[in-house]
Amino acid sequence: MKKVLINTFGCQMNEHDSEKIAWIMEGMGYGPTMDKEEADVIIFNTCAVRKSAEDRVFGQLGELKELKRRKPEIVLALCGCMMQRDDIRSYFLKKHRHIDIVFGTNNIHKLPQLLNRHQESGKLVVDIVEDTREIEESVEADRKYSYKSYVNIMYGCNNFCTYCIVPYTRGREKSRDPESIIREITDLAANGTKEITLLGQNVNSYGKTLDRDYSFVDLLKDINEIDGIERIRFMTSHPKDFSRELALAYTSLDKLSPHLHLPVQSGSNRILRSMNRNYTREDYLEKVSWIKELVPDISITTDLIVGFPGETEEDFMDTVRLCQEVRFDSAFTFLYSVREGTKAASMHDQVSDELKHERFQRLLDTLHPIGLELNRRLIGTIQKVLVEEVSKNDENMLSGRTDGGKLVHFRGTEDLIGKLVNIDIREAKTFTLEGVLV
Ligand code: SAH
Ligand code: SF4
Ligand code: F3S
Repeated sequence: MKKVLINTFGCQMNEHDSEKIAWIMEGMGYGPTMDKEEADVIIFNTCAVRKSAEDRVFGQLGELKELKRRKPEIVLALCGCMMQRDDIRSYFLKKHRHIDIVFGTNNIHKLPQLLNRHQESGKLVVDIVEDTREIEESVEADRKYSYKSYVNIMYGCNNFCTYCIVPYTRGREKSRDPESIIREITDLAANGTKEITLLGQNVNSYGKTLDRDYSFVDLLKDINEIDGIERIRFMTSHPKDFSRELALAYTSLDKLSPHLHLPVQSGSNRILRSMNRNYTREDYLEKVSWIKELVPDISITTDLIVGFPGETEEDFMDTVRLCQEVRFDSAFTFLYSVREGTKAASMHDQVSDELKHERFQRLLDTLHPIGLELNRRLIGTIQKVLVEEVSKNDENMLSGRTDGGKLVHFRGTEDLIGKLVNIDIREAKTFTLEGVLV
């Protein structure tokens, strides 16, 4: 059997797109491999969200030059968010002559055609669709896990946060039909999926592009009815559209996991305005208080950007204070990274790298003790854990996630993978828990 190696960078959208690419490739007779020496086709699914993500792609692609020289018959394909940018694409094509196929985020279903075209002509094939994903409801996915699956509910983004490249790489917002989503999840459940994660850049605005009145909460209610599904998660919800109705859904839908990822980005109203986030610090705190009142044990996580243009010490301290007030279970923290073509890239008062790093460290020093304290509170409780895999460092240890999304390590055997088990939590660290099977 021929082999394909898919190297995925970036977020869950990309991970899930890679699962679809794997499925398409399998249909063409290519099995998966992780070994580039054994691969007939190598696909890089790229991410453009920060410079560091792009640098990783450039670095690893450079390493393939030598391989291509040795094995000219190997096919190298690039896809994903970086490819949607004209400037980056032309840079790649000029600089890396060893690339054979380039496609984008909106047309992965065309891969078989592109591969054939390249194999017939021996020439570089480039195919990019600028705007919204050509909806390819029929593309299935070779899912990495059988018991937990990603499901796209919408594509693209219309928010244009001033720092963010995603609206330019993923096109305009478009919701999938509810029937098609429900059908997909029902099939997944029939095949053993217990946990689903609904994917969209802003799931709270799901339904806006449909021709009838049907909201994200309506969708959650319908999914909650599907037999076999035990946990529903979603990524990501935008605070501006986080509704009271969604907060209430946590109390009425038994399968909705008590976890909310609600990216705040900054705690300063001045910076939030300049980021075009369309909510204030007060709005955010109010929404968090709704959910905490309704679901006291909920775990709340967030994304934070440090060093956005114009961020002063006072703005930064507003972020620190907001973190102390909300008490996030954990957070993804990022140094602001200039993305050409976005509004913030041309803002004048860019923050120095030195200051960004210094604030970044102070932010972690704020977040980590809170995360640890919240984890310690779980010591002595019994948590329901979906067992995911054997630990990389110790074959007698398993890892899985609690309802709240926390990573737990415990002793157990491989046959438990994919099952829901009860774990008595004994120890807590900043990022993980340890426990024993009960
Ligand atoms: N749609 C999601 C976020 C997708 S990008 C949302 O709005 O919540 C994931 C995270 O990357 C963002 O939440 C933000 O914190 C970070 N990010 C995006 N662009 C960035 C940039 N230019 N520099 C640093 N971090 C960035
Ligand atoms: Fe980017 Fe903002 Fe859209 Fe999220 S909501 S993808 S941060 S533009
Ligand atoms: Fe995701 Fe990176 Fe694209 S974060 S949407 S893969 S730019």
